[in-house]
Amino acid sequence: MGPGANASIHFHLHTPTSPSPILSGAAAEMPHHPSPLPYKLLARRRAVAACAAVAVLAAAALLLATPATDDPTRPYLAGSLLEKELVEDAASRRFVDASSPSPAQPPLPSSLLLENNLPSKVTAATSMLLVPSPSPAENLDDGSMEETEPPDLKENTHAESAPFSKSSSPIRRFEINKGHDMNDPAKLPPRPEAPVPLWSTAADEELIYAKKGIANAPLVSNDPDLHAPLFQNVSVFRKSYELMERLLKVFIYHDGAKPIFHSPELKGIYASEGWFMKLMEGNQHFVVRDPNRAHLFYLPYSSRQLEHNLYVPGSNTIEPLSIFIKEYIDFISAKFPYWNRTKGADHFFVACHDWGPYTTKLHDELRKNTIKALCNADLSEGVFIHGRDVSLPETFLRSPRRPLRGIGGKPAADRSILAFFAGQMHGRVRPVLLQYWGGKDADMKIYDRLPHRITRKMNYVQHMKSSKYCVCPMGYEVNSPRIVEAIYYECVPVIIADNFVLPFDDALNWSAFSVVVPEKDVPKLKQILLEIPEDRYMDMQLNVKQVQKHFLWHPNPIKYDIFHMILHSVWSSRVNHIQME
Ligand SMILES: *[C@@H]1O[C@H](CO)[C@@H](O)[C@H](O)[C@H]1NC(C)=O
Ligand SMILES: *[C@@H]1O[C@H](CO)[C@@H](O)[C@H](O)[C@H]1NC(C)=O
Ligand SMILES: *[C@@H]1O[C@H](CO)[C@@H](O)[C@H](O)[C@H]1NC(C)=O
Repeated sequence: MGPGANASIHFHLHTPTSPSPILSGAAAEMPHHPSPLPYKLLARRRAVAACAAVAVLAAAALLLATPATDDPTRPYLAGSLLEKELVEDAASRRFVDASSPSPAQPPLPSSLLLENNLPSKVTAATSMLLVPSPSPAENLDDGSMEETEPPDLKENTHAESAPFSKSSSPIRRFEINKGHDMNDPAKLPPRPEAPVPLWSTAADEELIYAKKGIANAPLVSNDPDLHAPLFQNVSVFRKSYELMERLLKVFIYHDGAKPIFHSPELKGIYASEGWFMKLMEGNQHFVVRDPNRAHLFYLPYSSRQLEHNLYVPGSNTIEPLSIFIKEYIDFISAKFPYWNRTKGADHFFVACHDWGPYTTKLHDELRKNTIKALCNADLSEGVFIHGRDVSLPETFLRSPRRPLRGIGGKPAADRSILAFFAGQMHGRVRPVLLQYWGGKDADMKIYDRLPHRITRKMNYVQHMKSSKYCVCPMGYEVNSPRIVEAIYYECVPVIIADNFVLPFDDALNWSAFSVVVPEKDVPKLKQILLEIPEDRYMDMQLNVKQVQKHFLWHPNPIKYDIFHMILHSVWSSRVNHIQME
């Protein structure tokens, strides 16, 4: 029996018995989502396939033989095997103390020691049930940066769910920002203030100290490590970064079982959340064991694993994912005093899956107060809060062991192609791009997928390395791994995704190394690019090379790299929102 069967058991057992009042009735459409074929055959909730049923019984027998209190994942099974009260009784146990090694093992205040006798082991049966099935994003990792197809894994795997249309998905019901002109900062809704902490700590005082220090940042005239034109204000960035290095302490919650927690996925298009998790959990400098000293609290879950383990294929609802996250937050806010102190405002999570923002919607404080580092940084959805949340770069890693492999590209003078794009026709922008520019103009190399007659001579990556401009239109959602990819291959990105907040926009000045084109201007794309003077292009291309280092993953993080940039943006958000008396 293959892993697909295990996964299907897992899905069935997770399925909630009654639809949530918030999400029900609107489940006809979902945003795009990889729906691997084997699951589709098992999509109906109660239609357990014969081979899965055998495994259910075997797994059930194994787990029922174990005392409930010893098994943190018992509730996973309870959904279909036990009575509802048992489910509720056991509900909190699923998050308790995973066996995963975590550097953060808090000395608990004595009032919390009551919980100490709770389970701390994941049983063999659990790991059988929780084995993630092969990820579509993993299959294309051939260990090579050179490939013949556009690396649009996310989109390639969406063929199965193509009929879902973005505009009528259930989650759109929560839109609250509609009517604002997102491109005009003056018309943005006011940034909400973070709740005032219930009591103050030495860490709060350090944040206030940092805030004052940044406001009085000494002017930086020439820092060999920081290329000033890339930044909104290089003096502010340097001071803020320096204070982060000196002061910042992060507490990582130890609770939560693999694979949703503490289980980083290092390749594919969601790699940035996995790399961040791995490097954060392994960090010696910033992680603190005593939560009372922390400025920030990291919620170490993976949005990709959430989808992978809890989404019921064909169900068209992300309800189980949202409920899971709500229960997790309820659990940590009951077990520890830290969440309630700030109502979640000093907590953060890092999520690259498209659904990351939406899974917060059943928990008000999580959605409104927590710092969300999201690839899907779309202002028009009403979840991402500009100035509070962090736009997380989507980085597609083909070779996790050698993240720097293949980086670089031709010098500006040798870039013979004006503009390049190849990829599938997802979302609202790409069909228009293809309609106007596909096969119409020798300078505009715009394809849906690269034809074989072309890849034989020049593959996808070689195209990026030989083009002046790399067109990065949104897919189903605003973000695209192409933006960072263009930076890796030293091609000036041309971003077409209205309402997208660009990564690290709090620190970086994207006009120095990219072109943002409004969606409505796609028909004028060539003219817009040709009107950019040659010296301005040369500046941007030079700046792309300079900004590269801020987007690179290193197995051992180095100063100013992408790991530190993400952490810095979270730090900066918290510093900016701490209230001074
Ligand atoms: C950068 O910020 C510093 C400190 O707030 C300020 O003094 C300086 O004028 C700013 N520089 C620019 C170019 O805006
Ligand atoms: C935090 O607040 C919630 C809701 O008010 C409450 O249920 C919970 O017990 C509180 N947590 C602690 C540790 O007191
Ligand atoms: C950002 O870069 C653009 C283009 O180089 C420049 O015109 C603009 O003044 C810069 N903005 C800031 C805040 O430095």
